[in-house]
Amino acid sequence: MLSWDEFDKEDGEVAAKATNAGHANEANMDRLDSAGGAAALAARAVTSTDSAAIIRAKAALDSLDVAEGLAELEGASARVAVDEKMMINCRADLNQLVPFKYDWAWQKYLDGCANHWMPQEVNMTADIAVWRDPEGLTDDERRIVMRNLGFFSTADSLVANNLVLAVYRLITNPECRQYILRQAFEEAIHTHAYQYCIESLGMDEGEIFNMYHEIPSVAKKAAWGLKYTRSISDPKFETGTVDTDKELLRNLIAYYCVLEGIFFYCGFTQILSMGRRNKMTGVAEQFQYILRDESMHLNFGIDVINQIKIENPHLWDAEMKEEASQMILQGTQLEIEYARDTMPRGVLGMNAAMMEDYLKFIANRRLSQIGLKEEYPGTTNPFPWMSEIMDLKKEKNFFETRVIEYQTGGALSWD
Ligand SMILES: [Fe+2]
Ligand SMILES: [Fe+2]
Repeated sequence: MLSWDEFDKEDGEVAAKATNAGHANEANMDRLDSAGGAAALAARAVTSTDSAAIIRAKAALDSLDVAEGLAELEGASARVAVDEKMMINCRADLNQLVPFKYDWAWQKYLDGCANHWMPQEVNMTADIAVWRDPEGLTDDERRIVMRNLGFFSTADSLVANNLVLAVYRLITNPECRQYILRQAFEEAIHTHAYQYCIESLGMDEGEIFNMYHEIPSVAKKAAWGLKYTRSISDPKFETGTVDTDKELLRNLIAYYCVLEGIFFYCGFTQILSMGRRNKMTGVAEQFQYILRDESMHLNFGIDVINQIKIENPHLWDAEMKEEASQMILQGTQLEIEYARDTMPRGVLGMNAAMMEDYLKFIANRRLSQIGLKEEYPGTTNPFPWMSEIMDLKKEKNFFETRVIEYQTGGALSWD
């Protein structure tokens, strides 16, 4: 191996040595490996200062069989090639992040990190004053705030649990798993945000957190989602057959296209409409950040579903397409019912009929995003401002309140 001292010598001499560097490097690396291995083993020798506990720990490692341990990791014995990677049922080592096959998944992970935010950054003072003031909001407006905090406070937990306890294990690709871990943390931040709003406003926590089984329009949405988690969250569930692969696909459609892609949209629109009218601006700002995260979760899910379809075209048969379409239509119907329940009268410049149009417009998009026929022809978007909010960059805050830039800060000091 060349040392830095060699570069002080004549160029010619260095060049001559470099021609043999390949062989020399290999031989030297072998020597280094054996020297390192011997040094590591020597560190296990019992010394006079070792306690009985330390001696026992060292002795236990003498019987560690490394080959046997690694054999439990599927495919871990070989380096991974890009074309071995697959979304589901992949046998290649899942502990090797690179080489990337799905650059879009890694990019979404980076984008998610760049959008990092925390609920405590949002100033809730104005909201507390409005909420406490008997004249601050109408009864219809209060109903909207309560119902949405009730639905979302548990819905994000359902999504997080489904991701971590079911989906993560079954998506057999490390760059997608990297994004799923980021998404799971974002879901924790969302649940934190709802809790932060509920606590700041001094609401009855028991009432809000129990709406998902006490208020029918909220309960129906939660029950619909949970139905699709049941089988795949069983630890014994494995993909690898047409039936089980379809079951996973159903779960992804239920959670990404319907829960995150439809069930969130009535509530987001209502709360953001409140913010646009300068009411409950702190809650609205929290929802604005959450919506931005959610639109990325949705786009990731759509990419995952479409990639599974590309790699497993036999799963996407007429029966599966019909089922997927039905799931999106059922979800749209439940969200329309939720809109009726939360807005029995016109409020905040909107009403349930306008929301119904918006939800049909959203449903058409979800259908076409996974390659299905639109079922509500001719529907237009009555709330074009929603798309503007979704595309908003962090530094251009919709409600013009304080925002911390995580990308530029965050340096640790050792003092
Ligand atoms: Fe969320
Ligand atoms: Fe989400």
